[in-house]
Amino acid sequence: MRASSSSSVVTLVLLLLSPNAALAAPAAATPCVIDSFSALAGCVKSTNILIKGPFTVPAESSFDLSGIPDGATVTVSGTVTWAKSSTLDKTNYLFLLGGSGVTFDGTGAIFDGNGQLYWDGQGANGGVKKPKMFRVTTTGKSVIKGITIKNSPIHCFSIGGSDTTFDHITLDNSLGDTKGGHNTDAFDVSATGITIQNSYVHNQDDCLAINNGGNIAFTNNTCIGGHGISIGSIASGKTVDGVNVSNCTISDSDNGVRIKTIYQATGGFVKNVQYSDIILSNIAKRGIVIEQDYQNGSPTGTPTGGIPISGLTLTNIAGNMKSGTEVYILCAACSGFTFSGIHITGGG
Ligand SMILES: *[C@@H]1O[C@H](CO)[C@@H](O)[C@H](O)[C@H]1NC(C)=O
Ligand SMILES: *[C@@H]1O[C@H](CO)[C@@H](O)[C@H](O)[C@H]1NC(C)=O
Ligand SMILES: *[C@@H]1O[C@H](CO)[C@@H](O)[C@H](O)[C@H]1NC(C)=O
Repeated sequence: MRASSSSSVVTLVLLLLSPNAALAAPAAATPCVIDSFSALAGCVKSTNILIKGPFTVPAESSFDLSGIPDGATVTVSGTVTWAKSSTLDKTNYLFLLGGSGVTFDGTGAIFDGNGQLYWDGQGANGGVKKPKMFRVTTTGKSVIKGITIKNSPIHCFSIGGSDTTFDHITLDNSLGDTKGGHNTDAFDVSATGITIQNSYVHNQDDCLAINNGGNIAFTNNTCIGGHGISIGSIASGKTVDGVNVSNCTISDSDNGVRIKTIYQATGGFVKNVQYSDIILSNIAKRGIVIEQDYQNGSPTGTPTGGIPISGLTLTNIAGNMKSGTEVYILCAACSGFTFSGIHITGGG
């Protein structure tokens, strides 16, 4: 549609009157429908987008909605499947979403990354090239809800941006348990003002991994099969301030609650972190682990204090291990820890 000259004048006047105001356009009444990958380009400037499956995104292609208008609504129906790529690697994403004040509603819909066509047990560390699934750079009270993601090749949500809520998200990478899924982190966060709630994850790596940022809430979530609810590994210069993890269940996982900083890293910190009302079930390695000796995926055994951990509250963490250690703490610079209601049984 062509803008009339009179509406251009109105827009110009508004801009002159309030140069700093956020002028999110109201969502258009009729959605711009993307029912094939070739329809994507015609809709990326729309404020009302409907992704209408079923269709397949061709190999070597990213479905890029990182530049959509502020205030846009993106609705998904049906199933979108990504054909296997051979050139996309861990620096690429199958789907990208950006914008301020964006609402993404995938209730009842599925994004299928076809991870089983990539998995070789080596994840992001080797073997065939594997793209990440879903890059988020939204800001300004954005909401991402309802979507089911199946078979993410490696990491699922890579969250940057700020001020975004994830609600009722499902990551079903259960097939990866027997087909060589690896590094299939559910939510990797380097961002501020992020809430993740009422979500279900079955994967083969961290359910949550916070690497930088703060003001993060993780509530009412179920984590199955992975490496636990983690902060870190925190590298030099990275800071985490303000994390609340509450009312979550962690089952059939390597770890439950985990905070790790990298051996000899400096210039950062982890502070103001609380985990409360966490149920553990059938944990294999460590129920609670806090360590300052992490290195290249394996600990050195000697902690260093360049990334201090302070103000950690653990309240009501209960459940059972199938093997391993209930509580493991290896600190060089830790302070202000308050633990209560820790009841973990069954470790070796
Ligand atoms: C975490 O909980 C504390 C109160 O226990 C609250 O002051 C803080 O705002 C919460 N932070 C987030 C990110 O939810
Ligand atoms: C957690 O789940 C309960 C029950 O479904 C619900 O009442 C509550 O609002 C949820 N909390 C959040 C933060 O969504
Ligand atoms: C805790 O989360 C579960 C879903 O994981 C929900 O059913 C339950 O109502 C929640 N409890 C509270 C107190 O929010």
